[in-house]
Amino acid sequence: GAPYPVFTRQEVGRHRSLAERVWVTYGHEVFDITDFVELHPGGKSKILLAAGGALEPFWAMYAVHSQEHVLQLLRAYKVGELSPEQQSQPTQGDPYAGDPPRHPALKVNSLKPFNAEPPAELLTETYLTPNQLFFKRNHLPVPAVAAASYRLQVEGPGGRVLELSLPELKRRFPKHEVTVTLQCAGNRRSEMSRVRQVKGLEWGVAAISTARWGGVRLRDVLAHAGYGEEEAAGEQHVCFEGLDKDLGGAAYGASIPFRTAMGRGADVLLAYEMNGEELPRDHGYPLRVVVPGVVGARNVKWLGRVSVSREESPSHWQQNDYKGFSPAVDWDTVDFTTAPAIQELPVQSAITAPAPGATVPPGELTVKGYAWSGGGRGVVRVDVSLDGGRTWRVAELTGEEQGPGRAWAWRLWQLTAPVPPDAAELDIVCKAVDASYNVQPDTVEPIWNLRGVLSNAWHRVRVTVAE
Ligand code: HEM
Ligand code: MTE
Repeated sequence: GAPYPVFTRQEVGRHRSLAERVWVTYGHEVFDITDFVELHPGGKSKILLAAGGALEPFWAMYAVHSQEHVLQLLRAYKVGELSPEQQSQPTQGDPYAGDPPRHPALKVNSLKPFNAEPPAELLTETYLTPNQLFFKRNHLPVPAVAAASYRLQVEGPGGRVLELSLPELKRRFPKHEVTVTLQCAGNRRSEMSRVRQVKGLEWGVAAISTARWGGVRLRDVLAHAGYGEEEAAGEQHVCFEGLDKDLGGAAYGASIPFRTAMGRGADVLLAYEMNGEELPRDHGYPLRVVVPGVVGARNVKWLGRVSVSREESPSHWQQNDYKGFSPAVDWDTVDFTTAPAIQELPVQSAITAPAPGATVPPGELTVKGYAWSGGGRGVVRVDVSLDGGRTWRVAELTGEEQGPGRAWAWRLWQLTAPVPPDAAELDIVCKAVDASYNVQPDTVEPIWNLRGVLSNAWHRVRVTVAE
C-alpha cells in the first residue's frame, strides 16, 4: 500500500482531546484512537492520559496491554509514522521494580501489575490460606509505605481531618479479629470466556482465599471521628483511597454503604494483621480495609484516607468497573451508570480436587472443594454429582461455623463416593446452597457478562477412570 504520512512528536502532541482528535504513538507509529476512547475497557479517563504522546510509559504500568489482541486492535487505528530522527524510544524506569518477592507456586495471570492465584489443589489443603499463597490482585505497583511516617487520614463531619499513626490506632481502639474470605469479582472468569470472550484477567477457581484478619473496627474509628449510627438512615457511603496511584495521580478507590460499616455487629476492619503476621506488602501493608461478605474490590489496600460522602467513590473501579450486566449488553452498548456497583457477592462453590483432565482409579473417589456466599449468609449444603447432575450426594462440610448473618468465611467440603463400575469418564459437578436457600445457576450462558464478573455457575470437572 501507499506509505503512511510522516509526523513529528510535536504534531502528534496537538491531538490531545476528542475535539482535536486523540493521537498517540507506539514505537515509531502514530495512531488516531479517537473512536476507541469510549470503548476502552480500562476507562475513558485512563486512555486520555496518553493523548498526544507515547503509550509506552502507561503500558509499562498496565501490562495487560502486552497481548497480541491489544496490538491488533491498535493497528486498526494507524494513521502515520514518526519522522526518522524522532523515533528513539522515550526513556522510562520500571514502575514495578519495587514490588515484593512472591511465592513461586503462584499461577501468575499478570506480572505487572501482579495478579496471581494459588494452584487449586493447594487452596483447600488448609482452612486458612497461608499468606504467601493467598491470591493477589493489584491494579498498580505496590507502594512503598514507611510505617514510621504512616498516617491514616479520616475525614470527620464538616471536613475536619484526623490523622492517626499505626501506634495510635492500636492504642486507641480495641483489637478485633475475624476470619473472612475474600473473593475477586473475576474469580472463575476463564469459564465465562469459554462461552464468549470477555475482557479481563483469566482467573481460574482460586481468586478466593481465607485469612484471620486482625485490626480495629471501622465503626469505632468513624465513631471517634464524630459519626453516629443515625447517619445510616441517609444514603451515605464510606469512601476509601489507597496509597497506590496511577501516572495521572489517581489513587485506587472504592466505597461501601455507610450502614455496612456502621450497623450493629458490623465486622468491617481496618486490618494490620493477616493470619497473626504483620500485613504483607502485597496485601496492603501497613493497613487495609476488610469488608466481610463483600466483593474483593472494596477491600482497599494500603489505605490512605477514609471519608463519608453522599456519593459513592468517584474512582474508576467503583463507577466504571466491577458491575454486572445482562448477556445482551456488550462493549458497544454498555452504559456503566445503569448498573449498581457490586457489593455482596452471590453463592459460590468450586471443585479443587481432582484436577480437570486427571485420571482417577476405579473404586472410590474423594472430591474436595470450597463453598462461600456473600453478605454473611452461611453455606448450609453442598451437593456433588459424579454423572453430570443426574444423581447427587451431599458433601461433608468442614471448617469454622460462624454465627447467623455473620458467616464471613468459606466452608471446605469433601465427598468420598464409589466410582460407578461401568464409568470410563466422570463429569463431576458441585453446587452450594446458602442460608437464604440461594443456589448457583446451572450453566454459564445466562449469566455471561462483558466483564466476566460474578461467574458462579455449577462447577464441572471431567476426569478419566483408569487403573
Ligand atoms: C485494559 C486497549 C491505552 C489502562 C485494556 C484492554 C484493552 C485496552 C483491549 C483490555 C485488555 C484485556 O483485558 O485483555 C488499549 C488501547 C490503548 C490503551 C488500544 C491505546 C490506544 C491505555 C492507557 C492506559 C490504559 C493510556 C492508562 C493510562 C488500562 C487499564 C485497563 C486496560 C487500567 C484495565 C485492566 C483491567 O483491570 O482489566 N486496554 N488501552 N490503557 N487499559 Fe488500556
Ligand atoms: N486496594 C488497592 N489500594 N489497590 C488495588 O489494586 N485491588 C482490589 C482490592 N483492594 C486493590 C485494592 C481487588 S480488585 C481485590 S480482589 C482485592 O484487593 C484483592 O486483595 P488481595 O490482593 O489481598 O487478595
